[in-house]
Amino acid sequence: MSTQSTPAASGRPAAPSTLITGIGSLVTNDTAYGTGPLGLLADAAVVIDGGTVAWVGPAGSAPAADERFDAGGRALLPGFVDSHAHLVFAGDRTAEFNARMSGQAYSAGGIRTTVAATRAASDAELDANLARFVREALHQGTTTIECKSGYGLTVEDEARALRIAAGHTPETTYLGAHVVAPEYADDPAGYVDLVTGEMLDACAPYARWVDVFCENGAFDGDQARAVLTAGVERGLTPRVHANQLSYGPGVQLAVELGAASADHCTHLTDEDVAALAGSATVATLLPGAEFSTRAPYPDARRLLAAGATVALSTDCNPGSSFTSSMAFCVAVAVREMGMTPDEAVHSATAGGARALRRTDVGLIAPGARADLLLLDAPSHVHLAYRPGVPLTAAVWRGGVREL
Ligand code: NIG
Ligand code: FE
Repeated sequence: MSTQSTPAASGRPAAPSTLITGIGSLVTNDTAYGTGPLGLLADAAVVIDGGTVAWVGPAGSAPAADERFDAGGRALLPGFVDSHAHLVFAGDRTAEFNARMSGQAYSAGGIRTTVAATRAASDAELDANLARFVREALHQGTTTIECKSGYGLTVEDEARALRIAAGHTPETTYLGAHVVAPEYADDPAGYVDLVTGEMLDACAPYARWVDVFCENGAFDGDQARAVLTAGVERGLTPRVHANQLSYGPGVQLAVELGAASADHCTHLTDEDVAALAGSATVATLLPGAEFSTRAPYPDARRLLAAGATVALSTDCNPGSSFTSSMAFCVAVAVREMGMTPDEAVHSATAGGARALRRTDVGLIAPGARADLLLLDAPSHVHLAYRPGVPLTAAVWRGGVREL
């Protein structure tokens, strides 16, 4: 631990280390540092240095650092890991939401409205929109965010969406198979050929993941398999929009192909639950979508009881879930999906990290990225106890104090 600023190898002064002390309640998500699955530690301190966590422990035995930050008895937790979002888009679907809240049903087809607006937007407009949403999420404690394409649906528009996304996050997902592009309405097989061929070639350099919307009105099991296996052959790792609007083959396919996550999981058979529980595929639940489509929530309790790993994410998109608030998702998961506050907070941090196969985020332990959320509250439970209340007191991302 440096006690003063020394020149780094680059010749630039080293960033000062910071001792965050007076932490009333610390969520480490590491059982080596505290109690229960959250690794909770009372009256704690954390030292961050060079972008990572350098030390975690009781405040009374904390080492010295260059700078000191007094948390004032408030709760510190890992920054939220939002492992599912669709943020490269233009346009607005207020009218569709309004109609839905007046009784109309949600369908996959609404995606095409956003596709038209996104195609018409300039690169600069899409980039500015995305930057605004990443900032909006950061203000609510999200320090890692995944971002999908899927509102371009041409070779050029999908590639530019991912190119733009890659400028903001390493967690980029190729979702050319969001719905069949309007130009291919009469030739879905031709569209799958495009998605698994020329479009994949153009997108793979900017993407880490490949995804498909496996659903009635989008892609069936065979088409989804073709999309995911083509992505795997190009070095991408699968994740799947599965079992959102109806029962279907998405979850089983995700497990069979070793996908990092099966997302939505709203309509699950006992076999689906067992498959998830017996696999490394994370069940990513997206309560914002059920909230905003007035649909029944997924049963988190059933998944947890079976032993599945559960993540919570926003699904932030202009159609089915226009929220960037992980705190909102935590509150809904607790109130409506049978999760305890501890489980929901774990799923929104460590669970998201598992869904993105990241070991450096979603926890506060030596060596982890210093992605930290200080709540204006004495406990992480307040995220559910005080729904809708802005509780962000401070956020560090990669050791940098962002707000
Ligand atoms: O995850 N399910 C597919 N995609 C989005 C919805 C996108 C939209 O309606 O624009 C989702 O809910
Ligand atoms: Fe989604």
